[in-house]
Amino acid sequence: MGKDVIIALDFDSREKTLTFLDRFAGEKQKPFVKIGMELYYAEGPSIVREVKARGHKIFLDLKLHDIPNTVKKAMAVLSGLDVDMTNLHAAGTKAMMEAALEGLTRPDGTRPLLIAVTQLTSTSQERMEEDLLIREPLDQVVMHYAKCAAGAGLDGVVCSPLEAGKVHTACGEKFLTVTPGVRFADGDVGDQVRVTTPAKAKELGSDYIVVGRPVTQAEDPVAAYRRCVSEFVG
Ligand code: C5P
Repeated sequence: MGKDVIIALDFDSREKTLTFLDRFAGEKQKPFVKIGMELYYAEGPSIVREVKARGHKIFLDLKLHDIPNTVKKAMAVLSGLDVDMTNLHAAGTKAMMEAALEGLTRPDGTRPLLIAVTQLTSTSQERMEEDLLIREPLDQVVMHYAKCAAGAGLDGVVCSPLEAGKVHTACGEKFLTVTPGVRFADGDVGDQVRVTTPAKAKELGSDYIVVGRPVTQAEDPVAAYRRCVSEFVG
């Protein structure tokens, strides 16, 4: 599996999304992009088809979490949209993750990559203990969820680049780490707390970096994207 940069299309409309993607029209290799809840709920499945038709690979970031049967059926629908990667919450249990894989698998045996969210980075140790009644150290909870995901047959997890090494040690080198929280050394951090540069993420063993504002808000997004690729992929 080759390393790649995924641009987070955190826009609220088709128009803004396509205007942004128009800038990449001249690129031979169209960037891998992430469509999240905001854009998907605003525009529905047609935006996925439209972006796909322009030649982009798509990570559909909808973080499913429901009973196994419902997730299985929903995953079958997403698989039919021909996305390349999608995700769910590992907290839905191994049974839910296994059902998701079943739903995702197309009649010809192919399927999009399936990635698990462990504990969201917005959840602190304190909130996890008090709200979720999980009393183990957060990093051990994250590793446990990653191992459950690997055990269920998933392809990887979303995590910080700082956790990529540990995840690979626990779940194997082929288990993918998809890592947000990436910033250029000379760029704005924004609301991200623990950030790494694309070059550092490469050094730490991330398989995919997810980059939003450093590219979408850049004066020259194509140049910013190329800079990410040259630092991360080389
Ligand atoms: O703009 P920025 O580079 O911070 O965007 C990062 C993207 O990755 C956003 O779409 C954000 O929702 C997502 N993400 C994240 N941290 C996580 C999981 C997802 O930043 N733990």
